[in-house]
Order: sequence, then C-alpha cells, then structure tokens
Amino acid sequence: MLDDVEAVVLVGGKGTRLRPLTLSAPKPMLPTAGVPFLAHLLSRIRAAGVRRVVLGTSYLAETFEEHFGNGESLDLELTYVVEDQPLGTGGGIANVAKHLTTDDVMVFNGDVLCGTDLTAVVDTHRRTEADVTLHLVRVQDPRAYGCVPTDADGRVQAFLEKTEDPPTDQINAGCYVFRRSVIEEIPQGRVVSVERETFPGLLEAGAVVSGHVDNAYWRDMGTPADLVHGSADLVRGVAPSAALPGPAGESIVLPGATVAKDAFVFGGTTVGRNAVIGAGAKVEGCMVFDGAVIEPHAVVETSVVGAGARIEAGAHVRDAVIGDRAVVGAHCELKGGVRVWPEVRLPPHGVRFSADV
Ligand code: GDD
Ligand code: MG
Repeated sequence: MLDDVEAVVLVGGKGTRLRPLTLSAPKPMLPTAGVPFLAHLLSRIRAAGVRRVVLGTSYLAETFEEHFGNGESLDLELTYVVEDQPLGTGGGIANVAKHLTTDDVMVFNGDVLCGTDLTAVVDTHRRTEADVTLHLVRVQDPRAYGCVPTDADGRVQAFLEKTEDPPTDQINAGCYVFRRSVIEEIPQGRVVSVERETFPGLLEAGAVVSGHVDNAYWRDMGTPADLVHGSADLVRGVAPSAALPGPAGESIVLPGATVAKDAFVFGGTTVGRNAVIGAGAKVEGCMVFDGAVIEPHAVVETSVVGAGARIEAGAHVRDAVIGDRAVVGAHCELKGGVRVWPEVRLPPHGVRFSADV
C-alpha cells in the first residue's frame, strides 16, 4: 500500500493533437467510457493506496476543480496548482514542490491509460535506492515517445525524447517516482522539460535513475486514434479501471440515451447522456458524446461524435472526429482521419478523405 507516497498528475497540456475536441475541454477531462479520462487514472492511483494527489493545471485549469472538487467522491485529497503560463512538464513538477510532504513522490502524465502495478514501480525505486525511477514499456514505434535504454541492472543510460532513430523500443511510460529532494532541485518559475532537461541532466550528474519495465496494458491517449481505441478498451474491460460507470462489455449506454432496438452498438462504444442511436444504425468502437444523434442506417466506426453533433441518415463515418454540434449530412462518406470542426454542417452526399473541415 502506497499510503506514504503522494502523487502529482500533470494535466496542463493543450491537447493540440486532439483538436477540435480539446477546444472546449482539456484532454484529461474528455469523456472516456462514460467519465472524464482523469477519473480512470485517479481511481487507479487511489486503489494503490495513495491518498493525496496534486494536479498541475494550466490550460482550462478551472474545469478540473469544477468536476472533482476536493476529491471526496474518489476518496482522495485533491490539491490544484495553476500555472498561469504553462511551465512544461518539469516546470509543472517544480511548481507543485511546496505542496508535497512525502519522501517519495509519484508523478504521472495525465493522458496515459495504463494497467501497471504502481506498488511494484515504487518497490523498484526503493530496492535500487534510486533518485528517480521511470516506468518503461515497449512499443512498436518508439519515435513518438521518450526512448529510454537501460543496462543489464535496469539502470537508465540515456533519455532521448522523440528521436527519429531510437536505439531501443523501450520508452518512457509517463509515470515516475521521484525523491522529493530531486523535485526541489528543478528550477522554479521558468519553462522546464522533464524529458529534455531534467532527466538528461540527472544522468549527466551521475544520479541513480532506474527503469521499471513491464508489459502491462499501456496507451498514451494523445491522438484521436489512441483516444478512441483506449476508450473502447476501457468499455470492453481490456484496459482495467475501477471508474467504469457500468459493467464492461460491448457498449456502455449512459442514462437518458436512446438506442433503437435494431441498432448495432458494439466494439466498446460509449453512448453519452441523452444521445440517440436510430433504427438500423451501426456504431462500432465509437465515443458518442452527450446529446449526439446518429440517424437511422448511418454507419459510424472508430470515431468520436462530439456533444450535440448529428450524423444524418445513411452517412458512413470512419476514423473521424466530429466536433460538438457539427452535422454530417445524409449519405456523406467520411474516411481516413477527417476532423469536422464544431458547428460545421456538411451537406448531404459529400465524400471526404483525411482533411479538416
Ligand atoms: N502542468 C503542465 N504544464 N502539464 C503539462 C504541460 C505544462 O506546461 N505540458 C504538458 N503537460 C502535461 C500534459 O497535459 C500531459 O498530461 C503530460 O504533461 C505529457 O504531455 P504530452 O503533451 O501528452 O506529451 P507526449 O505524449 O508528447 O510525451 C510524453 O509522454 C510520453 C508517454 O505518453 C513524454 O513524457 C514522453 O517521454 C513519453 O514517452
Ligand atoms: Mg501524451
């Protein structure tokens, strides 16, 4: 039980890769399997025994406290620390230093869906008497992440953020254990990247930086494709969470939603409050936000349908992000990463492939 460890969650990013969804909500607050994404992470942190969590916020900072308040509903004590100007990942950690009291502190990127055993990460940290311990996972394409080679003893040898030519497929999973004294040495009041400045600096100075590698479920939710797949994995119970609002299965249908009897809603789809799925519609692996409407015989696959958006009859939408209150006209065909901006109305019978509208 990690009752002697406090946690910091970094949630100050702008979520640009998830626009237009992140124009109205920060990435960690996007509804994911029926609750804000952050609720899944916080419930995992609580389940590991942590009681106090400090959120480092910046972009749309107030939305976090509006939803989670003092943390009571999660049985957590939540503290919010706002960066008026975003200070970067390292600056965000430094900025919360004075709110921390435990010797070891866990730090999380706020957009990672992960099933790792947090106690085991802290055990590695303590067993190796590390200054910092990084949770590491293996991925197919490490270029979009921090590449972290380790030696035979698990000691971190280098930290190479987003490099074109990664020497290993082992990457930074966005979960760290810091000695609090190390956090106190990160410069305050200016932008610092923990990945590009703090970790390389610690390695250069000879600090003990340990890697904790495992093969738990892991996904960074920072792109539309990852968000949609991660959400479907939560709904289907593939990714573990104690915060699901219903039993895991092919779909989660929130209160007030209407699904026609002969509609097919499956593949880990979430249907938001007061959303409507019409007769004969097929909705596979989608995030359908509150009040959205999918009209009869539309086919929607692995897409996000924003709040109050409408997919008209017979439209076919795949791998798309439909902004809030946008309308996809009847029999339109959208495929290959199309993003429709909020309020935009696409006339019937349009065909679009991978472009913003
Ligand atoms: N408080 C605060 N201030 N938080 C920030 C800031 C900031 O200025 N900038 C980013 N964050 C938060 C984001 O909200 C997110 O939760 C987390 O820090 C990581 O930022 P991302 O923008 O999602 O980074 P990334 O996904 O490109 O890369 C990071 O995560 C990968 C694993 O998911 C890096 O840590 C990589 O090394 C890592 O592999
Ligand atoms: Mg990320």
